[in-house]
Amino acid sequence: LSAPPLSAPPGAPFLPGLSAPPAPADDELEGMVGGSATMREVFAQARRVAPSEATLLILGEGGTGKETLARAMHRLSPRRHRPFVPVYCEAIPETRIEGELFGCERGALPGAHTARAGLCEAAEGGTLLLNDVAELPTRVQARLLRFLQTGEVRRVGASRARHVDVRLIATTHRDLVQRVRDGSFLSDLYFRLRLHEIRLPPLRQRPGDAVRIAESLLRRHAWAMAQAPLTLSAEARAAVAAAPWPGNVRELENAVHRAIVLAERGEIAPAHLGLDASSPPPVPPADALEAEPPSDSLEGYFRRFVLEHQAALTETEIARRLGISRKTLWERRQRLGIPRARS
Ligand SMILES: Nc1ncnc2c1ncn2[C@@H]1O[C@H](COP(=O)(O)OP(=O)(O)OP(=O)(O)O)[C@@H](O)[C@H]1O
Ligand SMILES: [Mg+2]
Repeated sequence: LSAPPLSAPPGAPFLPGLSAPPAPADDELEGMVGGSATMREVFAQARRVAPSEATLLILGEGGTGKETLARAMHRLSPRRHRPFVPVYCEAIPETRIEGELFGCERGALPGAHTARAGLCEAAEGGTLLLNDVAELPTRVQARLLRFLQTGEVRRVGASRARHVDVRLIATTHRDLVQRVRDGSFLSDLYFRLRLHEIRLPPLRQRPGDAVRIAESLLRRHAWAMAQAPLTLSAEARAAVAAAPWPGNVRELENAVHRAIVLAERGEIAPAHLGLDASSPPPVPPADALEAEPPSDSLEGYFRRFVLEHQAALTETEIARRLGISRKTLWERRQRLGIPRARS
């Protein structure tokens, strides 16, 4: 979605009394929906911070909209016409991440037959988004810190550094303070990243927003299909409002998309959303999603979750729902003796 035009296009209907473009609504930000007081505050903070050049850290549980907010910030910034380059730190193998981010000279890394620019350089003039920044190995964290301090990138194997103009946005669902304490995240990098910090609250702490988002998804779907929107039954509204949504907006979005298929026409009932009013689905304790092992109950939860879901979900999706990296998922599978089922 792009910003609304500043002047009405030719042939636009005349709206009496409307001489200036309307002020941006405070219950949405570039397509993000949120009328709760907590989200209005987030949107206000995001609008203040967007024009800044300073590094931004976005925190929040899985599925709360960190990447979506980062994209909105880019579109609201003076860099909007320049590249937006998202990087998924946990998805890049450790042996390749330095070359991917910073580039490399010919022959400096295995398989580097030609010199190659990294993603930092690809974002020149624009915004670089580092998703899951806590998953970067310490060696790469140090290189990133040097880049932030000097504004210069040195490709792997290069003797000369080159100036690169990018704004960095980083996200994580981890507790970075804890990571700094246990020595797995560089404190200097942490302080450098959080020049601005925005914390996205979990969906269960945004009163009214789950229903707002669900209805906005239904309207958007109806618009795309050029048909009348499906509506939520009174029970479905109540169920959406009451559900804890441990997977936050992503989980809600999946539930609504499933309901659209199942309900086909007319009204959506709680069952279409997978919300059975009589037996609410069991929810892991909130901190189980964030916490690290080992604890017997957590391991039990992990084992049950993996065994129950591995037939239906990809490894990426399982890791995402558990709030861990794919690497951690793999390691835990090995440790607990539940290797990946062969398909
Ligand atoms: N406020 C919102 N209004 C409408 N849709 C939203 C909102 N926040 C997030 N979404 C949608 O929810 C989904 C998940 O958002 P996103 O990928 O940005 O979350 P995330 O915090 O980066 O997740 P993860 O931690 O798993 O990487 C996306 O499809 C996004 O469009
Ligand atoms: Mg994300």
